[in-house]
Amino acid sequence: MTQLVMPQDANNWGTAFGGKVLAWIDIAAAIAAGRHADGMVVTAAMDDVHFIRPILRGDVVILKARVNYVGRSSMEVGVRVEGEVWGGERYHALSAYVTFAALDPDKRVPRQVAALDPQTDEERRRAAQGEARMLKRRELRATRLARLNT
Ligand SMILES: CC(C)(COP(=O)(O)OP(=O)(O)OC[C@H]1O[C@@H](n2cnc3c(N)ncnc32)[C@H](O)[C@@H]1OP(=O)(O)O)[C@@H](O)C(=O)NCCC(=O)NCCS
Repeated sequence: MTQLVMPQDANNWGTAFGGKVLAWIDIAAAIAAGRHADGMVVTAAMDDVHFIRPILRGDVVILKARVNYVGRSSMEVGVRVEGEVWGGERYHALSAYVTFAALDPDKRVPRQVAALDPQTDEERRRAAQGEARMLKRRELRATRLARLNT
């Protein structure tokens, strides 16, 4: 997905507004997850995001999203965000992992999606690392849910 940091997307310091970048990440990731699920998906979680390098107003933003890991109904999508000075340098600004759940559009309950079929060593590595992160996320979620219920 490609965007342009317009004045309305920037903060008072001339760099991209963090909330706007998060929205772009969410959209790019949702498209990747929705394509894999071939249907409705909702954002379940976004891992902690670190804005490593500011993206300047007027720069082009390139978001590359890919499904790393698929559980039963859940998917982890990795998004790499790059800034590009018009016609010039491209720089890695930040990366994020977003978890989606596929839902049955009528009953609004999680539904199973196709398993991932990694073909290359790199895809297998991404899937294994995604699975390890997903296990940690599930633990974190269980802790948060337990706190909410006490
Ligand atoms: C996400 C949601 C659908 C989960 O529904 P649920 O009834 O709790 O169902 P489950 O616990 O079975 O979760 C579904 C899957 O998502 C995973 N999941 C849910 N929340 C998660 C989280 N915070 N982190 C990681 N995985 C999560 C579960 O592990 C499960 O994975 P699996 O099917 O691959 O085993 C529900 O909590 C929800 O609707 N949340 C609000 C979503 C939303 O409004 N998003 C913003 C707008 S799109």
